[in-house]
Amino acid sequence: MASGGPTMSVLSTCPTTLLLWVLAGVTACLLFKGVMRLTWGDSHPPSYPPLPCLPSLPLLGSLLSLTGDQPPHLRFTELGHRYGPLYALYLGPHYTVVVNAFSHAREVLLQRGKEFAGRPKMLTTELLTRGGKDIAFSDYSPLWKTHRRLVHNSFTLFGEGTTKLQSIVLEAVEALCCDLQASRGKAIDPEPPLMRAVTNVVCTLVFSSTYQPGDPELTSVMEYNDGIVQTIARGGLVDIFPWLRFLPNRTLTTLKECIAVRDQLLSKKLEEHKVSLIGGEPRDLLDALLQGQTRIKHNQGSGVRDQGLGAEQEEEEDGISDDHVLMTAAEAFGAGVETTSTTLLWVLAFLLHYPRVQERVQKELDEVVGCGRSPDVSDRPHLPYLDSVINEVMRIRPVSPVLIPHTALTHSSIGGHSICKGSRVLVNMWAIHHDPEHWDQPEDFRPERFLDDKGQRFTPSCFMPFGAGPRVCVGESLARLELFLFVSGLLQRFSFSPAPGVSLPDLEGRLGVVLQPLRYTLTVTPRPGWEGGEGGEGGGDGGEERGEGGRNWGE
Ligand code: HEM
Repeated sequence: MASGGPTMSVLSTCPTTLLLWVLAGVTACLLFKGVMRLTWGDSHPPSYPPLPCLPSLPLLGSLLSLTGDQPPHLRFTELGHRYGPLYALYLGPHYTVVVNAFSHAREVLLQRGKEFAGRPKMLTTELLTRGGKDIAFSDYSPLWKTHRRLVHNSFTLFGEGTTKLQSIVLEAVEALCCDLQASRGKAIDPEPPLMRAVTNVVCTLVFSSTYQPGDPELTSVMEYNDGIVQTIARGGLVDIFPWLRFLPNRTLTTLKECIAVRDQLLSKKLEEHKVSLIGGEPRDLLDALLQGQTRIKHNQGSGVRDQGLGAEQEEEEDGISDDHVLMTAAEAFGAGVETTSTTLLWVLAFLLHYPRVQERVQKELDEVVGCGRSPDVSDRPHLPYLDSVINEVMRIRPVSPVLIPHTALTHSSIGGHSICKGSRVLVNMWAIHHDPEHWDQPEDFRPERFLDDKGQRFTPSCFMPFGAGPRVCVGESLARLELFLFVSGLLQRFSFSPAPGVSLPDLEGRLGVVLQPLRYTLTVTPRPGWEGGEGGEGGGDGGEERGEGGRNWGE
């Protein structure tokens, strides 16, 4: 799921814009002083033992210490060298704790996971989710728990124990390979075809539609999704100072337009599914959610409820509404496309820099799978090096470098410091994944760190690209399956090299909603046995028929 997003993007605002906001802020501050006191009163930190806190001004909070070119995860890491691994700051009026060390992250996410499982209310995400009817941005509540369990069970229906999800992903891998085969020898930007492939996986999973490139509905899905991602990434200030929504705001207008297109398409799919829904095997996630919705209503009607809920909580269990179903479907796109496709783009970018690593993965694939068939999940235990490459990419460039902001649901503590109810907590996974106390030479790309001395998988506990605890990514197993099948399928058939005369991809990246590489080009060369697009029995499936119609998106 995306993380850099709303609150984070403001921290990279340009100095001139910031100056204007400072002036506006100071003026407003004089008017709002009394109101601010009231607002701060509730969530002000306790005095003992004090957490180091960045200097802060009324209204603006610590924003002046956070501006500049550096993206927030790097700035937070740097500030950690001055203030220690655990410190506080004010994002506007919001008291926010920054966690840079694994030991503290373990407390927040796992040991006291429930106490820190809240989410702050933000204007853009409230708009996006019809007031928190999704999983990622909804605050912790009994209804949220029921909803999350339903989504988890629905994913499980298509994932573990069935081959349905694998077939969906393999079909998308096949289509992507056909796309790339048609571009062999040319310099291409890998982002559009990868994005299309991952979007198609989610479309098939959510509402059983698989699109050929160029299909207007697919283009529409990709465009509104991209529009939402881009505007959420720019929407930071309004999330800190919600009163800014009363001023003209083009970002918010675009966001609302994209949401309207999204809702129209998803509502149509939902209505179609309701009409054609029959009992038995769900066809897709929408079916599974609708069936789960009915089951929960039925249980409530017959008095079967979660044990141990108080009367007030039971009221909250009023049920999963159509809005919840719709927002879940929407979130599968919002949370599942950008993260997975960006991770794949990072994998390719690092392989261009480290051709020996690419060769070693291909050697492993040749030995275990050969070229007579496509790799599938049953091969995964036998491909530890390939897995270690994926893990190392997610360590060194976590696409959600500060997760999604958490909030304290109750008075609690981190590292022996009291934390007040309502405090926001940012877990800086970037700092944890680059902490020299836990990783030898953390800036080096070394997949072997995920292997033990026998060459078998080894996963350090401070590796948490999907978060951990009650708010851990719901799509982790889907994402891992996709990453494995895409990387293995691509490297079985192709070698990737830098486009001639073009510099290697920049590995710093840029933080939008996710941490993504700057756009780059590469050359795709079919490997021996795959020159014609087919390798033995498992080869391509008629890429010519797919045509090139979809190549206009984002290219
Ligand atoms: C490489 C791919 C992915 C990565 C790295 C990733 C990472 C994350 C992270 C770091 C979080 C936040 C955890 C926290 O706040 O503590 C998250 C949350 C979430 N992710 Fe993912 N994610 C990925 C793919 C997916 C996919 C494919 C889906 C669904 C289709 C998905 C759905 C979600 C949802 C619903 C949440 C919110 C969970 C909650 O708040 O309870 N993610 N993800």
